[in-house]
Amino acid sequence: MASTKMDLPPRPTLFDFHGVSMVKYFTDNWDNVQSFKARPDDILIATYPKAGTTWVSYILDLLYFDDTISDCRSSVPLQERVPFLEISAPHRPKGKDLADQLPTAPRLIKTHLPVQFVPKSFWEQRSRIVYVARNAKDTAVSYFHFGRMNHVHPETGDWSCFLQNFIKGNMVFGSWYQHVNAWWDKKQTYSNIHYMFYEDLIEDSGREIDRLCSFLGLSPTTEKKEHVRAKVTFDNMKQNKITNFSTLPLMNQSVSSFYRKGAVGDWKNHFTVAQNEQFDEDYKSKMKNPALCFRTEI
Ligand code: PPS
Repeated sequence: MASTKMDLPPRPTLFDFHGVSMVKYFTDNWDNVQSFKARPDDILIATYPKAGTTWVSYILDLLYFDDTISDCRSSVPLQERVPFLEISAPHRPKGKDLADQLPTAPRLIKTHLPVQFVPKSFWEQRSRIVYVARNAKDTAVSYFHFGRMNHVHPETGDWSCFLQNFIKGNMVFGSWYQHVNAWWDKKQTYSNIHYMFYEDLIEDSGREIDRLCSFLGLSPTTEKKEHVRAKVTFDNMKQNKITNFSTLPLMNQSVSSFYRKGAVGDWKNHFTVAQNEQFDEDYKSKMKNPALCFRTEI
């Protein structure tokens, strides 16, 4: 059925949830999400929003299932192949239920949860986790345009207002700074995390697919890897009905496309000189770990 304005839920408001800004569409199913029963072969794709979650989700989906996919599954959209664990939006199946019902092994599951909110069974089962991070400036820009078009997010306000909120951590899923740092710290004690960067994927997706395969213990042929690499280019994912979210009424892509720029450095088209100086100053005070380095241009 075609979507109408009637389908759109009201824009939610942010509230403090155990120290993290959240909206109800990601906390309403909390107890069920927390009691999710992870399996040892599950793969959790964890990110702060707009880091390249969809890109990496599709890479993993193709690496595992492209050869074996049955005809009835070939048209299943990515959001059902790789459910978004904590989502509980009106008129949509809950992410946790979709994850429970996944017929695949491994199950690929997406989350934006800060590390302290991840259901404990993932740690108990020692499931593998792929964490994707993207530089703060491009993340902020991408998140701004996403908020404008996605009705499960609060109203963004204008860019300057949104940027101040980003700096303060008043975002859905909280502070980018805390998210990327806490997941980095977790990697030091939990060896089943592969921490990767959006900028590295842009620079050399083939190399990053190799690294992913090595983490996952996969040995695809050169042809297979090349096939995956070609299918996950920005243009191909934007055109592909499986990956472009064109059937999701919650996203009004006439406001901003989900596949917007797909680049490193678009922040330069948004930040004023003054905003950039303020951002850099604040960034230095929050990002003290020299081992965790982001590139804002390549
Ligand atoms: S979400 O909603 O949090 O799951 O979004 P997420 O998928 O993490 O991030 C969306 C941004 O990733 C870009 N993207 C890509 N860039 C390059 N190549 C490919 N294949 C690709 N797929 C997704 C997408 O365009 C969003 O970034 P922006 O900067 O807004 O374009």
